Amino acid sequence: MKATAQAHPNIALVKYWGKRDEALILPHQSSLSLTLAPLAVRTTVEFGAPGEPDRVEINGRQAKGSDLDRVVRVLDAVRTESGLERGAQMVSRGDFPEAAGLASSAAAFAALAVAARAAAGLAPDTRVASILARLGSGSACRSIQGGVCVWERGTRADGQDSFARQAFSATHWPELRMLVAVVSREEKEVKSRDGMRHTVETSPYYAAWVKDAEAEIPRALDFIAHKDIEALGALAERNAWRMHCTSLAADPPLSYLQPGTLALINRVRRAREEGVPVWFTLDAGPNPVLLTLSAHEDAVERVAREAGAASTVRCYPGGDAVLLREHLF
Ligand code: DP6
Repeated sequence: MKATAQAHPNIALVKYWGKRDEALILPHQSSLSLTLAPLAVRTTVEFGAPGEPDRVEINGRQAKGSDLDRVVRVLDAVRTESGLERGAQMVSRGDFPEAAGLASSAAAFAALAVAARAAAGLAPDTRVASILARLGSGSACRSIQGGVCVWERGTRADGQDSFARQAFSATHWPELRMLVAVVSREEKEVKSRDGMRHTVETSPYYAAWVKDAEAEIPRALDFIAHKDIEALGALAERNAWRMHCTSLAADPPLSYLQPGTLALINRVRRAREEGVPVWFTLDAGPNPVLLTLSAHEDAVERVAREAGAASTVRCYPGGDAVLLREHLF
C-alpha cells in the first residue's frame, strides 16, 4: 500500500495554451515537449485506513487550498480505478534548485500519478498514468515518459484519448541541451491556469494559435527525427512568440515578458549571428530556456550570463518516471 516514484519536468517546444474543458483539463491543441534531467521530484504515497483524511506534504509543508485540492483529485481518481476507499498520506520533494526558473508541478503530478497507482496495487500503464497526471496539471501528462513526448489533444468528451505518448526516447538525441536562464526570481503574477483561460476567453488571435500549434507538431517530429537543430530551434522560437503574442492580444493584455527577458532574447539572436547555435523558448514566465547542443553548452552559458541571467540550470534529455525502492517516510 506504499510506493515511491520519481519524475522529471518537461519543457514544451510546441506549447499547450488553453483548455476546451477546465474540469478534465482537456486542451484545445496538441503539444510537444522534451523531458528534462537532472531536475526531478520524488513522491511517496501510502494508503492507510478507510475513512482517514488525506495528508499531503509538499517540500516540507502541509498542502492547503487549491494545491491540496489538485492532489486529492488525483488520489480520488486512483481510488475510483482501484476500488480502494482509504485515506492516503503523500510526501513530495523536489530537488529543483531555489528559483530553478522552471515549474515543478509537471514533475510533481507525474510522480504522484505513478506512485499512487503503484501504492494502490494497480499494474503500470503509461496511458492511464498520463491521463491521471493530466488531472493534476495538463503539462504533467508529458512527464510520465522520457525523451520527446506528444500530448495528443484527443476529441472525446471524457478525455480518455487525451494523453501524452513518447515519440523519441532520451537516447535518440543525447547531445540536445536546454539551459534555463533565470532572469527573475519573482513569483509570476498570473499563473498559467488563469493566463490561458483569460487568453481563450478574450484574445481574438486564439483560433489562429490553435490551428498553427497543431500544424507545427508533425514538423517538429520531422526535425527531431533528422536531428535538425536549426529547424527545430526556429520552430521553438516562433511557437513561443506566437503563444506570447496570443496572450498580449488578450483584453486586458497579458505579458509575461520582462526587460531582462527581452535583453536575453536579443542577445541569443546576436550569438546566433556570431556562430553559436542557440535558440530560446519561453513558458508563462520571464525566464527563457535555451536550446543548444552539448558542444556549445559552455558558450551558451556565457551568453546567458553576459545578457544578465542571475543563474542558469543545465538540463539534458531525461528518462521515464520510475518507481524507487527508497521511500520518503
Ligand atoms: C506555458 O500545465 O501548468 O508551460 O493544466 O492549468 O495546470 P494547468 O497548466 P500547466 O500549463 C503549462 C503551460 C506552459 C506550456 C506547456 O508546458 O506546454
